[in-house]
Amino acid sequence: MRLLRLFLCFAVLLCPLFVFAQPAATVPSQIPGHDAVLLGTAWYPEQWPESRWDEDLRLMEAANIKVVRITEFAWSRMEPSEGHYDFEWLDRAIALAAKHHIVSVLGTPTATPPAWLTLKHPEILRVEQDGQRVTHGNRAHASAASVIYRDYCRKIAEQMAARYGKNPNVVGWQIDNEYGYALMSYDDETRGQFRQWLKAKYGTLDNLNARWTTAYWSQTYDDWNEIPIPVGGHNPGLMLEWKHFVTTTWTDYQRNQIDVLRARVEPRQFITGNFMGFFDGFDHYTITEPLTFAAWDDYVGSGHLDAVSNGLSHDLTRGFKRENFWVMETQPGMVNWSKLNNFLNKGEVRVMAWQAVAHGADEVGYWQWRSALNGQEEYHGTLVGADGTPVPLYEEVSQIGREFSAAQEALRGTSPVSDVALLYSYDSHWAIQSQKHTEKYDDIGLLKSYYGALRKLSQSVDVISAKAPLRSYKLVVAPSLNVLPKDVADHLLEYVHDGGHLVLGPRSGMKDEFNGLLPQRQPGYLKDALGGRVEQFYALEKNVPVSGTWGTGEASVWAEQLGSLASDTKVLLSYGKSNGWLDDQAAVVTRSYGKGRITYVAAVLDEKLMAAAAEWMLQDSGVRPVFGAVPEGVEVSRRRSAGKDIFVLINTSQEARSVTLPHKMKLLLGGKDGSIVALGPYGVEVLLDARP
Ligand code: GLA
Repeated sequence: MRLLRLFLCFAVLLCPLFVFAQPAATVPSQIPGHDAVLLGTAWYPEQWPESRWDEDLRLMEAANIKVVRITEFAWSRMEPSEGHYDFEWLDRAIALAAKHHIVSVLGTPTATPPAWLTLKHPEILRVEQDGQRVTHGNRAHASAASVIYRDYCRKIAEQMAARYGKNPNVVGWQIDNEYGYALMSYDDETRGQFRQWLKAKYGTLDNLNARWTTAYWSQTYDDWNEIPIPVGGHNPGLMLEWKHFVTTTWTDYQRNQIDVLRARVEPRQFITGNFMGFFDGFDHYTITEPLTFAAWDDYVGSGHLDAVSNGLSHDLTRGFKRENFWVMETQPGMVNWSKLNNFLNKGEVRVMAWQAVAHGADEVGYWQWRSALNGQEEYHGTLVGADGTPVPLYEEVSQIGREFSAAQEALRGTSPVSDVALLYSYDSHWAIQSQKHTEKYDDIGLLKSYYGALRKLSQSVDVISAKAPLRSYKLVVAPSLNVLPKDVADHLLEYVHDGGHLVLGPRSGMKDEFNGLLPQRQPGYLKDALGGRVEQFYALEKNVPVSGTWGTGEASVWAEQLGSLASDTKVLLSYGKSNGWLDDQAAVVTRSYGKGRITYVAAVLDEKLMAAAAEWMLQDSGVRPVFGAVPEGVEVSRRRSAGKDIFVLINTSQEARSVTLPHKMKLLLGGKDGSIVALGPYGVEVLLDARP
């Protein structure tokens, strides 16, 4: 007994050690038992005779493709007529893929309701803004709000889940496809739901009328049924709430299917959706919340890879759930839907694949394997041609596959970790978009200019919601935080108070959560902490000179006059001669607050000033580059986990570059170990730094 007690005591004492000895937290987008980073493709077995499948899968296997996404448009094949399901072909397709060491992700086919369904229930077809109902024959043609349609979606998802929820070769699910581009139906059913939703949110019309200031232009509502669906040019409160309602509708549409999947599939099977970078139809922080991880479809369209833009979109997607993600679709050289569907240069597809991984993707999937012989996308890029044999790009993709395999073990459990966060807010974006004041104001463009400057120097930036936890960041930058309600302002203040550095860009802290003006000057609830305020904002006709601590340069598009400064608020930049109002006024101010600092940048700065601003922000916040100096045109990224750092070096230029390593590291893609890494045009190298 005494011995037992002694043992138990020991066990309790040692318990924390056992807890610490656990392996590092797993990354949800890496599949246990499979390669940590996967190469994939969209495959449509339903479009081909079964006799062809083996050859397709053989070619995929030879290219090191490890995952296929299937079935997301195959409803009419899986349920050829109502209630009659045919899954045997799919059983065989999944099994044959597995024979080739390829696992499957199943898409629920709800972006393409079959003809028997739209014929039986034409009322599920979307009504466009002009009152016209869409016809069958395209995709995303059903109303996301339709109760009848959701019932059919639930039934097909339920059948698929029951059949494949325990299939060892099915690793996960994609709900729908790109969520119908957030299109809504302007029909009575949707309108009714919108009004119910408003009622549930506001409780009384008095409340709604007050929040939207409907006394303006005689908009006062006496009956919920009087409230229209906005189609543009409406009350800002109504417009923003419509966006929130669209978000709720698509989130519920998604939940309808998640619920039946979760109830039937094994927990190891993930559930995701394929999003579209900065597409702004709904709030992605909300819709991705119930998913295992986020995924996105990364297309260049016309032209070539813009590494800063594309890196930003990857980081945005990673920030949706603050987790690694998948690139569910990317272009095999070219698309078919852009103004000029040029092919990416030789080597550029590989650069894109590695950039995705460098920014936290754990799968890169090509859309698509082979073009259907007929159908809307005959000209799109593929990995095999109409004859079923490899196109020239196939070899480059095979190389990516070999490289993913070589580096996958090192990448296991790793994610990008940053000291710098950029804040993005859909409400602010929508608020600015609907009242731009100058058509030149581009809040995403401004985000990109901050991102480009900060990313270049720090080499790692997160893009997250303004409501996300901030404690781990040394520097938090909000380029256009137009909508800044009290709770979010308090959250930011707490961050600054505890020692963080918050930088606000123009148009910040102007509006409340109802898209109404705050009854304070900008930056609203942060005005006192800043020790200053915006006296007046100006849409600029021409550039304005600015100078100060960060050097001299110009402000364009937008400038705010800062004033009412506290004695300890420091002016970093001032405007030169301009419209008279701005002359000699403060353009950037900063102030210590609590243990931290708050800085307000009141204008859109030119590239040189932005670079100097970024340098100042990073230095003031104690942020160091994650790797060290790299030559122009080379992007460096870091993924880390306990005990190891992985660096990905990408030469986005078409000239050779060489990178000096800060210390010895192991080269994973075949380069020679040494203190210098030689990168050819579009060259890539992956480095393992296994120092503790
Ligand atoms: C989207 C869709 C795919 C396909 C590609 C073409 O991302 O999800 O089905 O149409 O575009 O680029």
